[in-house]
Amino acid sequence: MNYQGKRWRTIWRNADDTIGVIDQRLLPHQFQTLALRTMEECAEAIRNMTVRGAPLIGATAAYGICLAIRDDSSEKSIHTALKTLMFTRPTAVNLLWALNQMLAAVSALPSEKRLERAWQRAAEICDEDVETNEAIGRHGQAIFREILAKKPDGSRLNVLTHCNAGWLACVDWGTALAPIFMAHDAGLPVHVWVDETRPRNQGASLTAWELKQHGVPHTVVVDNAGGHLMQHGLVDLVIVGTDRTTAQGDVCNKIGTYLKALAARDNGVPFYVALPSSTIDWTLRDGLAEIPIEERNAAEVTHLRGKTADGALVEIQVTPDGSPASNYGFDVTPARLVTALITEKGVCAASEPALKKLFGR
Ligand code: MRU
Repeated sequence: MNYQGKRWRTIWRNADDTIGVIDQRLLPHQFQTLALRTMEECAEAIRNMTVRGAPLIGATAAYGICLAIRDDSSEKSIHTALKTLMFTRPTAVNLLWALNQMLAAVSALPSEKRLERAWQRAAEICDEDVETNEAIGRHGQAIFREILAKKPDGSRLNVLTHCNAGWLACVDWGTALAPIFMAHDAGLPVHVWVDETRPRNQGASLTAWELKQHGVPHTVVVDNAGGHLMQHGLVDLVIVGTDRTTAQGDVCNKIGTYLKALAARDNGVPFYVALPSSTIDWTLRDGLAEIPIEERNAAEVTHLRGKTADGALVEIQVTPDGSPASNYGFDVTPARLVTALITEKGVCAASEPALKKLFGR
């Protein structure tokens, strides 16, 4: 992703062996980077959503293991780090995937060899994420072209997305946004409806910011607008990311995704889910029964953060004093509502046989 003429990834290793990240809590109003100096700081950055989005959570956890080994390469230290990082956020399975990758890379090595291999594997995880998302973008772009070809000449392709499954949620490109960036770059007339995505507004703050940086035409809408837009023929397809996909193709994504899938089905609008294979949890089948759903602090619902006219970043309360609030972070969209899954290996039906065939399992 280009930002102010410079090519950025969302996470990198600094020369002093700290980990550079973008503080996503300040976007879209301020672009600031910070250096994570310890495994505990990586864990806290995941917990407090300095970094967020399934693939980036995984990459941050991988670098957290590197920092733990840098400070103490014993087995005990690695296990403490695994336990700390594993419980930072419960829903995105990429976290467990990345930790398993790191463990597999270093566990059989003598302690003096672990650090070098850990740095290498964490960097590979990041590079693989970029390659994977590029592939998702190519497969997704082909679908966009097919849908656009069926529209009258000169029409724009209206895509609706929820939350942020873009560059900021990954190492680069994004999952659901990769086809959008690529289609736009290839000259396709793409316009994106961006769900604001309460309570943390990842759509309004992050997806809109990314699309603006890239020059992609977009419009931010309130979360409840999607059904109305679809009823009036203003959405050609929905595309979202996923934090955990089960073996039978159920997808768990930001709260509100399920309602978009229902509205899409009722209106004959195709509903696509873009995912790297690191998001597939092959141990689970029934997403509704088996995926742990994160419940976050109610203050994210009762309060809003934003910029005042004089440029100050402030937080305000929107609910009456004392009104209780609940904050489920994710919901599950059953496979039956998903038109197709777009993965790095290609496009397949959201079903166990199709997924197994595609991934040779
Ligand atoms: O709570 P977040 O901001 O980490 O949630 C992120 C999402 O739900 C994304 O859409 C998701 O990680 C999909 S993959 C890029």
